[in-house]
Amino acid sequence: MLALVVVLYFWLRVAVKDTGVQAYLEAKAGLHIGSDVGGSPSGQQSKSISRRVVAVADLHGDLGHAHNVLQMTKLIDSDFHWIGGHDVLVSTGDIVDRGDDTIALYRMFDRLRTEAAATGGEVLNCLGNHEIMNSLGDWRYVTRGDVDSFGGVQQRRKAMSSDGWIGQSWLANFNITHTVPLLPLHLVPSSANNRGAAGGRVAAYTVPRASFVHGGITPAYARRGAAAINRIGHSLLQRALAEEIPNGQPPHDTPTEELELYGSEGPLWYRGYANQEDEAQICAEAERAASALGVRHLVMGHTPHLEGFVVRCEGKVLLIDTGISKAYGGEQSALVLETELKYLSEGHDGVSNKWKETQTLTALYKGRRPKVIHTVSREVYLY
Ligand SMILES: *[C@@H]1O[C@H](CO)[C@@H](O)[C@H](O)[C@H]1NC(C)=O
Repeated sequence: MLALVVVLYFWLRVAVKDTGVQAYLEAKAGLHIGSDVGGSPSGQQSKSISRRVVAVADLHGDLGHAHNVLQMTKLIDSDFHWIGGHDVLVSTGDIVDRGDDTIALYRMFDRLRTEAAATGGEVLNCLGNHEIMNSLGDWRYVTRGDVDSFGGVQQRRKAMSSDGWIGQSWLANFNITHTVPLLPLHLVPSSANNRGAAGGRVAAYTVPRASFVHGGITPAYARRGAAAINRIGHSLLQRALAEEIPNGQPPHDTPTEELELYGSEGPLWYRGYANQEDEAQICAEAERAASALGVRHLVMGHTPHLEGFVVRCEGKVLLIDTGISKAYGGEQSALVLETELKYLSEGHDGVSNKWKETQTLTALYKGRRPKVIHTVSREVYLY
C-alpha cells in the first residue's frame, strides 16, 4: 500500500487546440525548464522537470527549408547557431538527394551537434535509405548541382567513403534508430527500484520514451532491439563505404541480416505504418513494436504526406515526412514532443511524492498556427 506508484492514470485528449505562434513561443520560453531545475535532488516543492524533443524528417538537399524549420522550432538563431539549450533535435534521415545542399546540410548537423552538446542539448541523426543508397553508390537521386558542389563525381565519392568526412560522420554520429527518453533521466527522482514496503510488486515509474527511425520498425525488428538493429546497420554502412568501386547494390559478400535490414521490410524502407489501411491491424502491429521497444511513440519519416503529419493509433504512430524540401513543396514542418514532470504534493505515505506527468505533442508548420496533436497527463508517485 505504501508504494502505489501509479495511482491515477487519466488521459486527456485535446483534439485540436490552436494557439497563436507568439503565444506558443512564449509558453515555450516558460517551459524551458531543464535548465531551471539544476541538479539539486532536495527541495522538490515547486520543482518541475521537462524536456523538449524536436523531430524533423526528410530534408532532401534543401538548406533553406532546413533553416526555416529549425528557426521555427527556436533551436537555432538567425545565424543558424544552436540556441536550443537542453533540447534534443532528432533528424529521421534522408538529408541527402533531390537537392543540391548535401555539403551544407551535413556541415550544419556536425556543427549543431557540437554546439548542442556544449549546452546540455543533443542532436541525434538517423540514417535514411538515401544515406545508405549514397554509401552504396546508388546515385539515382543525386542532382547535377550537388555533384558540382563537391567538385565532381570522384570528390563526392571520396567524401562519402570510409576516409571521407561525410562517411566518417555517418559512422560516428548516425544510427538506424534512436530511442529517446522524453525526460532528462538524471533529473528524474528515483523510482525505478521501487519495491513496495513489503517487497510487494509495484509498477516502477518508467520515463516515457519515443522511437525514431526513417522507415518503420516492424514488430519482428522491434523484438531484436534497437542495439541489434544499429549494430547490423553500422556493419552494412562500413561495408558500403569501404567499397572501392561501389555499384549501387550491397557488395556480394553482404550477410543476409544486412541485406534484410536494407530490404522492404527493414527499418529504412518499411512503409507499413504509412500505407497499411486497416487501422485495427496497424495499431495492433504498432502496439507490439512499441512495447517491444519500450516506447510510447513510433516516429517515422520516409513516406511523404504533403499536407501535414499523419497521427495514427492515438499518437502511437507519428508519420512526419511532409515533403519539406522544395523538391516536394510540402509543408515545412517539425514535431515537438514536450514532457513535463511537475511536483504536486507529498504522498499520503510520508515517503513518496505526487507528481504530474504531462505530455504534449505539437505540429509546427511554417506559416501556420502550431497544432497540438496529442496531450496526455497522469499522476505518478516518485521517491
Ligand atoms: C548507436 O547505437 C548504438 C547501439 O544502440 C549505441 O551504442 C551508440 O552509442 C549509438 N551511437 C550514436 C552516435 O547514437
